[in-house]
Amino acid sequence: MKFFIDTANLDEIREAYNLGVLDGVTTNPSLMAKEGISGESNVRAHYKEICNIVDDKVSAEVISTDFEGMIKEGKELAKIDDKIVVKIPMIKDGVKAIKYFHSEGIRTNCTLVFSAGQAILAAKAGASYLSPFIGRLDDISYDGLQLIEQIVHIYQTYGFETEVLAASVRHSMHLIKCAEIGADVVTCPLKVITGLLKHPLTDSGLAQFLADHAKAAGK
Ligand code: E4P
Repeated sequence: MKFFIDTANLDEIREAYNLGVLDGVTTNPSLMAKEGISGESNVRAHYKEICNIVDDKVSAEVISTDFEGMIKEGKELAKIDDKIVVKIPMIKDGVKAIKYFHSEGIRTNCTLVFSAGQAILAAKAGASYLSPFIGRLDDISYDGLQLIEQIVHIYQTYGFETEVLAASVRHSMHLIKCAEIGADVVTCPLKVITGLLKHPLTDSGLAQFLADHAKAAGK
């Protein structure tokens, strides 16, 4: 299972990378805006900085929503670095763009996926990654994890090569459940990854070991 961090914040990306468990980064226009990054050249420079931190797989999202625009923008994004994965929304022209990039050997991440039907379309078009948004489904009383389970089953049945990238992951239990279900990748904020570390018995056990060691040493 791969871990991607879902942020455009360079410090958080560095922290997750230095933990030694990071496989990639996802960003979106909202996350870039949150870091105050705007303007074409600043956006590209920021993607390059992210690529300089991690080993591979940096999702950079197109803003265009028409086929020609997505192709032009996606090609420019892919030129920034070999680590770039072009992120394309699940719309009709997006499916065509995914097909095009697949034929050109450019990796894509199909985003804003909320149904199994959309997942089938993206896989048939040749998406490298598929991003179903768990948290946003949960927010409106749909079961996000059930969708991941359904897509994993369909992809395994037909041997689709598209990797299921569970997105909009809000807490550590989402991540653990995705691991149980067989999602290939999760993308989440740093706190979801560091949340996996936490257990009160680890904290109290370590405190006891250190206290016993100090006592035995006569401290
Ligand atoms: C990742 O690719 C998505 O853009 C992201 O996970 C969305 O998460 P959110 O629903 O918390 O904004």
